[in-house]
Amino acid sequence: MDLIINKDRFLEILEKAKETKELGTLRNIISEIILSVSTKHDDLFLLNISDNGDTVRYNKDLLLSELKQINETQTIERAKYYTERLIKSIEEIKTSKINEINLNRWKEYSDIITDSLWIWPKRDNSGVHTAGYWGNFIPQIPYQVITRYTKKGDTVLDTFLGSGTTLIECRRLGRNGIGIELNEKVAKEADSLIAKQENPYNILTKVICADSRDVSKEEILKITGGKKVQLIIMHPPYFDIIKFSKSEKDLSNAPNLTSFLTMFGEVIKNVTDLLEKDRYLILVIGDKYARGEWIPLGFLTAIEVIKNGYTLKSINVKNIENTLAKRNQEDLWRYRALVGGFNVFKHEYVMVFKKTDSKHQLVEDVLKNWKAV
Ligand SMILES: C[S@@+](CC[C@H](N)C(=O)[O-])C[C@H]1O[C@@H](n2cnc3c(N)ncnc32)[C@H](O)[C@@H]1O
Repeated sequence: MDLIINKDRFLEILEKAKETKELGTLRNIISEIILSVSTKHDDLFLLNISDNGDTVRYNKDLLLSELKQINETQTIERAKYYTERLIKSIEEIKTSKINEINLNRWKEYSDIITDSLWIWPKRDNSGVHTAGYWGNFIPQIPYQVITRYTKKGDTVLDTFLGSGTTLIECRRLGRNGIGIELNEKVAKEADSLIAKQENPYNILTKVICADSRDVSKEEILKITGGKKVQLIIMHPPYFDIIKFSKSEKDLSNAPNLTSFLTMFGEVIKNVTDLLEKDRYLILVIGDKYARGEWIPLGFLTAIEVIKNGYTLKSINVKNIENTLAKRNQEDLWRYRALVGGFNVFKHEYVMVFKKTDSKHQLVEDVLKNWKAV
């Protein structure tokens, strides 16, 4: 639960606490605030916001835990340090260049995942999202990476748009979005679905029907007014697991694994110039199993990205929830796995790369040596 607090009064009291010389006096002041916050007593100084002045929003549990931390400290120096930290979290907004996360209040962002295991029991069905497009990703993926790697008003480029999940999230989060999709029918459907999503921040979303390997960069720059994009999201076909069309330009119709990787590399080469330096590229992909062999599409495509001047920042493993049809076959797959000596896929990857100029990345060095052999 969030509390609306009278900012000036709160700061005044905290400053008073910070100026005290006695730990006992400081604790008394903090205890009074704790009482005020936990009982939500309107006539107590903090929550009385009837008079003019700025207010500040604070999560009640977090605020109480910050205050208790101050009061449980054994030295006046430490108590003052925590009080000063609380003052800062109210006074200043501290963000990095690439997102809007207020680092002075980082504990409030419990929805942002910073571990490498991404488990969601089900897809987010809010907004206009539908699960209808076979091979789409869950909206939680673009939500995570857009909030983590962009600010409002930035532009996100999705090179394999499909049903438009990324651009729908762009509208909800106030980021401009450009999506490229090869299949005309799919692109049209995505365009009309995206248009149904409310656009409270009045941002621009644009669907381009083209081959991402040679989509015109000029056309994209025209849309952005000449500016580069701040995030690229790639959710390519997982080679030929799902055939998305009959077109030979479609990555899912690559005649073999090598061609698939070449085509994927061509997409990266074509769009990398459009990405601002030190910004991020997200690759969402799973592996495949064919003729008794686990094909590590995730790692093979990651190598293509690294070869094009990116540094790998994270490999996140996301759970795959079985569809109803697959659930019925679960026993069969378990039996096959026991016979065949392999394990059944339950995960895919959300990999994070940063565009960099560094010529001394360890992984890139290894790749260069591989080529030399
Ligand atoms: C895995 S799906 C993307 C799904 C999307 N993330 C969503 O949530 O709906 C891959 C998409 O890439 C498209 N595609 C395949 N080859 C392409 C190419 N060369 N250029 C652009 N799009 C391509 C396919 O038509 C398909 O819609």
